[in-house]
Amino acid sequence: MSDSPRLTHRPEWTALEDHRAGALLHPDLRELFDRDPERARRYTVRVGDLLIDYSKHLITDETLALLQELATATGVFGLRDAMFRGDRINTTENRAVLHTALRAPRDAVIEVDDANVVPRVHAVLDKMAAFADKVRSGEWTGHTGRRIKNVVNIGIGGSDLGPAMAYEALRSCTDRDLTVRFVSNVDGADLHEATRDLEPAETLFIVASKTFTTIETITNATSARSWLVEGLGEEKAVARHFVALSTNAGKVAEFGIDPDNMFEFWDWVGGRYSYDSAIGLSLMIAIGPGRFREMLDGFRIVDEHFRTAPAESNAPLLLGLLGIWYGSFFGAQSHAVLPYSHYLSKFTAYLQQLDMESNGKSVDRDGHPVEWQTGPVVWGTPGTNGQHAYYQLLHQGTKMIPADLIGFANPVDELSGGLRAQHDLLMANLFAQGQALAFGKTAAEVRAEGVPEEQVPHRTFRGNHPTTTILATELTPSVLGQLIALYEHKVFVQGAIWHIDSFDQWGVELGKVLAKRVEPALTGGTDVPGLDPSTAALVAAYRTLRK
Ligand code: F6P
Repeated sequence: MSDSPRLTHRPEWTALEDHRAGALLHPDLRELFDRDPERARRYTVRVGDLLIDYSKHLITDETLALLQELATATGVFGLRDAMFRGDRINTTENRAVLHTALRAPRDAVIEVDDANVVPRVHAVLDKMAAFADKVRSGEWTGHTGRRIKNVVNIGIGGSDLGPAMAYEALRSCTDRDLTVRFVSNVDGADLHEATRDLEPAETLFIVASKTFTTIETITNATSARSWLVEGLGEEKAVARHFVALSTNAGKVAEFGIDPDNMFEFWDWVGGRYSYDSAIGLSLMIAIGPGRFREMLDGFRIVDEHFRTAPAESNAPLLLGLLGIWYGSFFGAQSHAVLPYSHYLSKFTAYLQQLDMESNGKSVDRDGHPVEWQTGPVVWGTPGTNGQHAYYQLLHQGTKMIPADLIGFANPVDELSGGLRAQHDLLMANLFAQGQALAFGKTAAEVRAEGVPEEQVPHRTFRGNHPTTTILATELTPSVLGQLIALYEHKVFVQGAIWHIDSFDQWGVELGKVLAKRVEPALTGGTDVPGLDPSTAALVAAYRTLRK
């Protein structure tokens, strides 16, 4: 057990409380910008291809200094180094946390249990690349000799969200002759819709599961196998149409997939940190090994930055600290991520798992209940769509919701003519929202427009809604990698300060166990012992209504 003071008893924490109650009791962004004409420049950091403007935050130099003192006092840098080194910092599962090794260069040395893991990482990447090339070129054919035209990834959580998000994000880099789909939901409708118009002879299933025991994935994979065998008339067709991505070779073999067609990863890769591993195979087939490696290079740029940049300009550290500032000192409960890019339509959903499964914890590393806020509710959709839905609440609601606005200076190369020109309008919206959220519109400004007095309160915007703007040149594979690594390390920083284990997920277990217990009661006549009265009545009603 750690004998360091509890977070909220630390002098650095109390100093932040005093600062909030004193100098920052009524922070006002107009005033903060007026006081410092250099604020926008000074509060902008560049990492790789990302420009990150954090000037529209309710902070001063003193706030930043105090937050950095908190980071130092809570040992963020030591834990960071331990993670990169391969120490077992996931203490409740006694595992190393080495997603950063997945993008390490070939000549790096990172040891787990005295063995360098980097050659194994590259061996799997090479095996994936060889396979992806064969599928893309048509050399890998299905059981009947036909070319593979469809790839269906079956997985859930970290075995789905990463590749599904990145496939959308990098769609313009994908082989447009391939149909790539992602099935995750145990609702049979998901697999049905994904396969109903596909030809079994041309379809490759990628069963992605770290444990290879996840009920949704194994159920869907079993149904997919039946669909294929029925379609092709032979059990042995499975060999050319199913590959597996897993850490569990035994279970893969039990399912009937040839171990040669398994792409391995390791228990030191967390599910939600896994899409750089074999879990990215569907993405690699879609975009090609070269672009996949470009994406890994992007991750690595931010890894290196996080590992080596000084605290004052360390972007993941700054973003992590800002989240703590709002969560604990302003009562913010949620964090909006608002990409101004259609291609990032699944980005926030991906971040939900990354952030909320990592930091949705209420006991600390020593097993004590936390007395401070931990991870926020992360939510959001592409920006302009959100503007016509929930931005009203962001601008004039009662809640403090810090937001990230993400945009690109250029649309993807594929867009041309008028569609390319629309990009300026898209980005004008991003910049306008950042300004409106930060600076609002005072009652005096509204009156000056001649608005009738009774309408003035309704048309006033109080502003002071904090945003970070992340601007990059273009949404390339490398930039996507940079963005994801930025958020991975931000989540890390927060977990370190909150003294929680960001790498376990015990909170998802109870529901899984109960679902297994309830299922027989829905289909058979058996009563399930231990159901609470409400659930028992619902199960009874379900049985009556079930056709
Ligand atoms: O929902 C919990 C979880 O364990 C996630 O952490 C994980 O990404 C997902 O299930 C899928 O797990 P697996 O890859 O083992 O099928």
